[in-house]
Amino acid sequence: MAATGITIASCSPGGGLGLNNSTGPGAAGGSRGALSFDPARTLISYFSVPLTDQSANNREDVENSMHVVDGNVLGNTEYVAQLIQERTGAQLFRIETAQSLPVSMDTLTDEAEVEQEENARPGVKAPISDLAAYDTIFIGYPIWWYDLPMVLYTFLEQHDFTGKNIVLFSTHGGSRLSGTVETITAALSGAAVNQNAFTISRDDMHDAPGEVDSWLGSLN
Ligand SMILES: Cc1cc2nc3c(=O)[nH]c(=O)nc-3n(C[C@H](O)[C@H](O)[C@H](O)COP(=O)(O)O)c2cc1C
Repeated sequence: MAATGITIASCSPGGGLGLNNSTGPGAAGGSRGALSFDPARTLISYFSVPLTDQSANNREDVENSMHVVDGNVLGNTEYVAQLIQERTGAQLFRIETAQSLPVSMDTLTDEAEVEQEENARPGVKAPISDLAAYDTIFIGYPIWWYDLPMVLYTFLEQHDFTGKNIVLFSTHGGSRLSGTVETITAALSGAAVNQNAFTISRDDMHDAPGEVDSWLGSLN
């Protein structure tokens, strides 16, 4: 099928991807606009946990863990995923845990710490069912305890991303990418993991539309 939106100039593993360092919002390196996406063959997968469904009157840390668009409460990473979706026309895929997560920030933080200490692999509700349909997979996640949420490890291990182009985006509370690009690159040795990953602080979400524009334009 012909690309109906933006087209791919270079998308084969090792074929010009992954040359830039991951330096965060607006990280621009190399020529601009060299990489574009066939929306029919691109999937935007993401994990995101808005810690409330209330759009106002929340504790500061809860407030910072969600973004309100037109009265709808989104997780920060979910918001970035939607911005990428609007700009690429690709499909969204939400990574969800099989077990529901605690709604309390404090409980979630404690449980996430234990999961990390135990190197746990929390179950994923549903895998990507039609992985073969996609050449390019965006993977989005929040930083948890200076690392990936453990369910991301489950997600990475349960799919065969060999030959896929992987593009990473993340949101954080101060730790930026925190080594996660290196972690994912090592985990997905058969894939072409673009090293120009996007990251944005939960305190800067109002800048996300412009930052996502610059980043997508900087991908090559
Ligand atoms: C369990 C947990 C652990 C976290 N650990 C970190 C951390 O180590 N470093 C950091 O910068 N932010 C940390 N954060 C903040 C999140 O990365 C940040 O709020 C992010 O934007 C949440 O994205 P989401 O709304 O898409 O889930 C943590 C948040 C939670 C819930």
